[in-house]
Amino acid sequence: MNTKSHWEHIYGTKAPTQVSWYQERARFSLQFIQKTGIRKTDHILDVGGGASTLVDDLRVAGFQHISVLDVSATALQLARQRLGTRAADVRWIEADITKVDLAEQAYDLWHDRAVFHFLTQPADRQRYVDTVRRAVRVGGHVIVATFAPDGPDHCSGLEVMRYSEDSLHREFGDSFEVMDSTRETHHTPFGTEQKFIYCYCRRHEK
Ligand SMILES: C[S@@+](CC[C@H](N)C(=O)[O-])C[C@H]1O[C@@H](n2cnc3c(N)ncnc32)[C@H](O)[C@@H]1O
Repeated sequence: MNTKSHWEHIYGTKAPTQVSWYQERARFSLQFIQKTGIRKTDHILDVGGGASTLVDDLRVAGFQHISVLDVSATALQLARQRLGTRAADVRWIEADITKVDLAEQAYDLWHDRAVFHFLTQPADRQRYVDTVRRAVRVGGHVIVATFAPDGPDHCSGLEVMRYSEDSLHREFGDSFEVMDSTRETHHTPFGTEQKFIYCYCRRHEK
């Protein structure tokens, strides 16, 4: 099964509140985004946003240019349905982040919770980082959350990578400066715990 059909199947067969990564509020992500100090008119991209409620809270916080990208059309449709007429304010991008061509320097803030860690092939990770470097403006903000070293080694039936702050930063390289990081113990809807790491970097010139 390829990436797209895998995720279409997941979102087609499970309620958004019954997937292991579900959180009522993306509290850690919101805190990091607020901490960057971006303006309400800045452009935000939530990569692999799925049916996450982050977009709802970003809208409520007054951000005017929010894009949500996901490989699953079903996931995006679930988020749109939840938002109703408010969905029209958001740009929805159905694409695979390892293949998409995003416009150069288009985003001030890149957010990814639990997507990069699915990239087990070095070539896919390289394409992802190349895309961040292209699409995020110099000085822009990059927030990536993955499973921590003591997090799960599989998610949704797929093998995942696990990262510390250092090993995640090594994947991104010297064009990115680590500004902050933190760990989260995520409580799944099934009563289990998953350890995450959030890493916030700024994109430099080179
Ligand atoms: C574990 S879920 C996390 C969803 C959301 N970020 C959250 O925190 O609730 C991973 C998401 O990434 C999407 N995804 C997986 N691989 C992808 C890829 N190569 N390109 C774009 N989206 C992808 C899936 O469809 C799914 O919505």
